[in-house]
Amino acid sequence: MTDETTDLLVVGSGVAGCAAALAGARAGAEVTLATKASRPEESTSYWAQGGIAVTRGDPDSLERDVLDAGDGASDPTAVDVLVNEADEAVQDVLIETLDVEFDSDYGREAAHEEARIRHVDASTGKHVLVPFLEYLESHESVTLLEDTAALELCTHEGRVHGAILEREGEWAPCFAGATVLATGGIGGCYRRSTNPRTATGDGIAMAALAGADVEDMEYVQFHPTAFAGKTDAETDLDRDPDRGTFLLSEAVRGEGALLRNADGERFMPGYHPDAELAPRDVVARAVATERDRTGTVVLDVTPIDFAGEFPDLAEACTERGVDIESGIPVAPAEHFLCGGIDVDVEGRASLDRLFAVGECARTGVHGANRLASTSLLEGLVWGLRAGEAAAGFEPEPIETPDLLDRDPELPDRFATEKLTRLRRVMDEQLGIVRNPDGVDRAQAVLRRLKGEIDAYTRTRTSRSLYELRGACVTALLVARAAAANDESRGCHHLVEETPIDAD
Ligand code: SIN
Repeated sequence: MTDETTDLLVVGSGVAGCAAALAGARAGAEVTLATKASRPEESTSYWAQGGIAVTRGDPDSLERDVLDAGDGASDPTAVDVLVNEADEAVQDVLIETLDVEFDSDYGREAAHEEARIRHVDASTGKHVLVPFLEYLESHESVTLLEDTAALELCTHEGRVHGAILEREGEWAPCFAGATVLATGGIGGCYRRSTNPRTATGDGIAMAALAGADVEDMEYVQFHPTAFAGKTDAETDLDRDPDRGTFLLSEAVRGEGALLRNADGERFMPGYHPDAELAPRDVVARAVATERDRTGTVVLDVTPIDFAGEFPDLAEACTERGVDIESGIPVAPAEHFLCGGIDVDVEGRASLDRLFAVGECARTGVHGANRLASTSLLEGLVWGLRAGEAAAGFEPEPIETPDLLDRDPELPDRFATEKLTRLRRVMDEQLGIVRNPDGVDRAQAVLRRLKGEIDAYTRTRTSRSLYELRGACVTALLVARAAAANDESRGCHHLVEETPIDAD
């Protein structure tokens, strides 16, 4: 690889990164969009099912729902921006620019006052991201670099000048007038997650190591209904986590599916007046409790036309040998990080010329818990804002960091073994419920792990090592934030006793 310069470097090719690239190009910048994904399926946006919330002419109602879900920890100014720009962003980018053909009905999901979700079947992310990438690939001002990871930010005196990029084992700086991180979430730090395994918090770790402010990392959202495998014994999450799970959209419960425990009892009415449509953190904890108490929880889809309404999900269940009529086994799974790199309403981070958008950013919209179908929307709105604000800076090459001189070799299985340890401690101590002693133990384990990884990064440079370091730094940020916050709120739920085993 050779040194490159660009006006705007965007790292990550989910919806937020694509929106930032589009807005940067529209504002006249030459944009480099670098992504470690080699296929769109490696982005969390691709897996988004439910859809994108719009206002349907009533922004106040959407605003109320976002604030209620955030459990008093959202930033009202950020929520205002989201709801006021939602409809225009969807119309301009998704409908008029990308020709996405949404289904004619509006979906309903938990904690929404009304049906207001624009969707395409239950595979909205795929239908948005594929045309977005195709559009950008043919855009004359955008260079799309696939299978290209960002390892470290290039910084000098508090300003970010781009990043070190790696492709096929070679690395070189890409100097940029401004840098937008859109690297997604942290599901790869947990055994059971609805994210692809590549979501290891790279951007959050890079920004934190460069000195950027990171906030609200304790608020990790768990989705209540991820496919749990036919039996837990068959779902060997450590060995083959990708095969273990996929999301069963909240839209399925929105249509009328019910949750039942191993005794066949519909338990949600005993936990919350809104039953299956209670806030996501409440449903997730109830599902974990009932699995722990009775052994299994299933999604009973017999009250709805599941195969007719959700053909993709019905097919995924059938492929795995599930008899849909007897109920689909479900378990909570890590789904979304509400916190991240602290940014303002333009996506500006605390370091000069660094921006962050999408799941790696903490805009303040989600507070302590995110409302369903607001993540693609937030990525779109903040992506457009940040891309425009980040265009127009001249690249200024600086001296490159010394990681360029290191050895690429890493002992076999080093990264796999460390990641397995990391995921286990995250699941056990920083999952759906936390116990203060357990959080302290997790911090100690993660610190030791980081020491072992740092010893290698002094002499070696490889993508898997940097990904592992990113995962470990991110996990530590979650653990530290959880330890510093002694108030149960939203998805940070503290208990006295040993946490429920979400498996
Ligand atoms: C879902 O379809 O249940 C997920 C929607 C979301 O997390 O926004």
